[in-house]
Amino acid sequence: MRLIYTADGSISAYNDVYNDYYHDQKGALLESIYKHISPAFHIIDKPSLRILDLCFGLGYNSLLSLVFAKKRNIKIEIYSVELDLPLLESLYDFPYPKIISSYLNVHSIIDAVNNDTHFVDSNVKLSVFRGDAVKFIQTLDCNFFDIVYQDAFSPSKNHLLWDKNHFLSLYRILSDRGVITTYSSSQDIRNIAQRYGFNVFNMKFANFKNGTLFTKNIDIVNDLDSVIFLRLF
Ligand SMILES: C[S@@+](CC[C@H](N)C(=O)[O-])C[C@H]1O[C@@H](n2cnc3c(N)ncnc32)[C@H](O)[C@@H]1O
Repeated sequence: MRLIYTADGSISAYNDVYNDYYHDQKGALLESIYKHISPAFHIIDKPSLRILDLCFGLGYNSLLSLVFAKKRNIKIEIYSVELDLPLLESLYDFPYPKIISSYLNVHSIIDAVNNDTHFVDSNVKLSVFRGDAVKFIQTLDCNFFDIVYQDAFSPSKNHLLWDKNHFLSLYRILSDRGVITTYSSSQDIRNIAQRYGFNVFNMKFANFKNGTLFTKNIDIVNDLDSVIFLRLF
């Protein structure tokens, strides 16, 4: 893994095994906020949330969800998974943006992640399963999650986390009024998701490529264009 600066000043990485970037070069922080945190927390407006973060990677989605929940006094339980254990160990020294490092005790979170324990703090809980996401998802309860961040490497590099079986699993574990966010705007992926029961919504951004939302219930997303940049911090 090689660390790289992205255009918003936040640091991301390139993975030499998958030959893929962890985030959009235009901004790791902004991509996480625009494509995952902001739309998900806007659409699912509840005092208590269960989130599945696929996969943990550098931790932007999970950590920003913790920040966001703390600021809003939302109770959250995050489940995540990551099979790259050396990556998780390297996160002790990772230069997180100030919005993360000034709100969270990142060291104790990364400590919990590397020691197979939960990070718990007042209203928030984070559990990171260290292993294969495909197997992990099979252990999860039906209709359990309000939010799923679908953030594997790209479909061509990480196909088991984008195929028919994966979308069947996602459909099983997502609650009836839940939402799945992803950076991908691939038509093939949208077609698979639709074929296996999801409603599919395009997300537009000024400077980033489009993303996608998947829901079981068509009514929970409306006026999407106004969602993305609203109600952030
Ligand atoms: C695009 S990165 C995730 C970025 C992350 N969400 C973040 O906010 O920093 C994809 C991650 O998926 C992990 N991964 C790929 N296949 C996996 C699998 N089968 N099980 C668990 N993790 C996997 C990779 O090791 C990598 O860390």
